[in-house]
Amino acid sequence: MDKLLVALDVESGVRALELARALRGVAGGFKIGSRLFTLEGPAVVRALTEKGDRVFLDLKFHDIPNTVASAVSAATSLGIWMLNVHASGGRPMMKAAMDAAGESAARSGVQRPLVIAVTVLTSMNGATLSQSGVTGSMHDQVVRLATLAHGAGLDGVVASAQETRLIRETCGADFQIVTPGIRGGSAATSGKDDQERTTTAPEAVAAGASYIVVGRPIIAASDPRAAAERLISELTTLRTVEP
Ligand code: C5P
Repeated sequence: MDKLLVALDVESGVRALELARALRGVAGGFKIGSRLFTLEGPAVVRALTEKGDRVFLDLKFHDIPNTVASAVSAATSLGIWMLNVHASGGRPMMKAAMDAAGESAARSGVQRPLVIAVTVLTSMNGATLSQSGVTGSMHDQVVRLATLAHGAGLDGVVASAQETRLIRETCGADFQIVTPGIRGGSAATSGKDDQERTTTAPEAVAAGASYIVVGRPIIAASDPRAAAERLISELTTLRTVEP
């Protein structure tokens, strides 16, 4: 299913490719994060793009505009489908990322990846947000950063489902909202792990998420494909009861 992106947060390229093989046709794409990329580099990205998989390179760039632009340019040349930066890096940084993606895609003869921004990590709650110096509410901060990303011309944001409805209302129907922190229902683990602002997959989609990102509830399951299929069937049920 298009909406389901599986986070390949595993210890090796071999394991990541095994999981991708098992989940191909069920997952709508694969997310490669900092652990796997640091260990295996661009080779693991290419191994997936060569199979026609959509790859979301989740390296959450956050640096001065020139550095982010160079990193985005390099990432784009790999033929990925989506990448992200931190919205808190500011408007000039996000604009530099967007411009670099367009220019690099044209130079490399690939499609421009979707460039999205992380608002507030789903592992944060009110207390950790205020420790970081933000005095307003979580909702206000997420919507402020989503609006900043939208204004900078980005394609969308990463946000928890708890803020999705508000972002959708503020930034419009075409804005991509990618939601991690999926727990409960068929996405069961022993608890929330390190996630704080969690929701079930059907709740995330009902709130307006364009994509959901699921890691441990699928990759740590004894049968990852069956776990992904259970999650999809929950979503399909949801769609059939919608008006
Ligand atoms: O295992 P789990 O389902 O919690 O995985 C969620 C994935 O989404 C992780 O790879 C995590 O790095 C990523 N992510 C997140 N919150 C964000 C952005 C990305 O959890 N705001």
